[in-house]
Amino acid sequence: MSQPSKAPWWRSAVIYQVYIRSFADGSGDGVGDIAGIRSRLPYLKSLGVDAIWINPWFKSPQADHGYDVSDYRAIDELFGTVAEAEQLVAEAHRHGIRVVPDIVPNHTSDQHAWFRAALAAGPGSPERERYIFRPGLGPDGTLPPNNWVSEFGGPAWTRLPDGDWYLHLFAPEQPDLDWNHPDVHAEFEDVLRFWFGRGVDGFRVDVAHGLVKAPGLPDLTPRPDPVPGEPRRHVDHPHWDRDEVHDIFRAWRKVADEFPGDRCFVAEAWADTPERLAAYVRADTLHTAFNFDFLTASWDAEELRTVVDDSLAMLGAVGAPATWVLSNHDVVRHPSRYGRRGAGHWAGARYAPDGPLDPALGIRRARAAALLSLALPGSVYVYQGEELGLPEVEDLPESVRQDPMWERTGHTDPGRDGCRVPLPWSGQRTPFGFSPDDATAEPWLPQPASWHELTVEAQTGDPASVLELYRAALRLRRAHPALGDGTLAWLDTPPGVLAFRRDPGFVCVVNLSAAPYPLPGDSRVLLGSAPVEDGVLGTDHAVWLEIQDVQPSTP
Ligand code: BGC
Repeated sequence: MSQPSKAPWWRSAVIYQVYIRSFADGSGDGVGDIAGIRSRLPYLKSLGVDAIWINPWFKSPQADHGYDVSDYRAIDELFGTVAEAEQLVAEAHRHGIRVVPDIVPNHTSDQHAWFRAALAAGPGSPERERYIFRPGLGPDGTLPPNNWVSEFGGPAWTRLPDGDWYLHLFAPEQPDLDWNHPDVHAEFEDVLRFWFGRGVDGFRVDVAHGLVKAPGLPDLTPRPDPVPGEPRRHVDHPHWDRDEVHDIFRAWRKVADEFPGDRCFVAEAWADTPERLAAYVRADTLHTAFNFDFLTASWDAEELRTVVDDSLAMLGAVGAPATWVLSNHDVVRHPSRYGRRGAGHWAGARYAPDGPLDPALGIRRARAAALLSLALPGSVYVYQGEELGLPEVEDLPESVRQDPMWERTGHTDPGRDGCRVPLPWSGQRTPFGFSPDDATAEPWLPQPASWHELTVEAQTGDPASVLELYRAALRLRRAHPALGDGTLAWLDTPPGVLAFRRDPGFVCVVNLSAAPYPLPGDSRVLLGSAPVEDGVLGTDHAVWLEIQDVQPSTP
């Protein structure tokens, strides 16, 4: 059953991810900004989303496009001002849209006042205790303190001219904070209050699983390979998903609870198992967490069903809603993942495309995946451009690539620029309405010329477009009492077909098998990812049905 309507909004919300650099450029400098977001609020309202998550907008040298923050109480001048941010929040609220910025607590920029002070103060100083500085190993200290590696490639340590090394799990411009230090706790709690006081409805917590490092910073040891067919196991790791991290978030929850309204946190936490993920979202810690198991699952009925069941069971056990995520600014866009056999979810080294891309296959599956995710119990994230069916831009010239992953991997991993190309809004040629007509610069990443077919303008009113599918699905999802938060019951289906009922009277069917699937006779199609002909659902299609009398299968 659906929750009563007074359940907090985040249990069932559709949250649209605004990658601010690439959403809409109001100032004409080729980079998206707050003015651009404000100008597109009517679009978001008509799309039918409940909230927006905005990637980091704080003052930043932009070494990792805002995930290197130099001042958490200021907005970067590329994007606007704190006053504009406040106006955005107020205007979004008038449109019934909540605003969730992104907070980055694992690391700061190397230009943050604390890190500059730490560099100036030298080895052994109290200023260095807010970060993770260590002497090197070997007779001259020329070896890093341990064997940890940066997520962006290369070692996780950089040596300073004074001999000390500092830890950065990401780029060298992103030194890791030491969460053993009381200043770090006090500072972030104060930053949360600063923005909650300005009306934001929550925060996306970047690298939530990385804040606590094991005492003594022990070396990484090889992790056992997962055994196919066996349940995944949690393996102790020196800097990911340590138990102590939850104490930090218990304190954050208290801060959120100081403010009226339903403020919430969503964790970016990569955990080995659904149980470990559920630990982030207990009643006294964070509220929700991204479901990366769903994002990383292959287009395979059995795998998806297992992810859905495990997610609902583990999150349900702690009273948290599930979330459903298909794409974000860190992964290959899903029409390109699903349009190949055997492709992974990351760019480059960890993205192993098997065979050429079949764009039509990718879009067919992406449309079906949209109806699947929007019908599942819980809340859903929509990454900007997903509602336009944008593919990954795989042929960006090397000279325009900006993601630090590209440089740090010695150009072996193309990085994440391909999913971050500025949105096409209207018109026949770049900037496709992303920037104003009198813009002084090109979009910060080039848009494919073929995107004139994918603009919001081109898709609006075309019943076959991905955009109109999303609009219809979001409209129905909002209106239908069975959708959003709640439970599901699987129906008996042949292998490769997923079908579940939600009460009252709603069924979602997704056909991932090679054979056509006849729909139940006593049903009425509410919405299909493609037209349903002769009551039969084709391969890689999904449908929402209104149904009177169906019996669930035994679990
Ligand atoms: C963000 C990335 C970012 C990294 C470092 C991730 O979780 O989503 O875009 O590069 O954190 O802050």
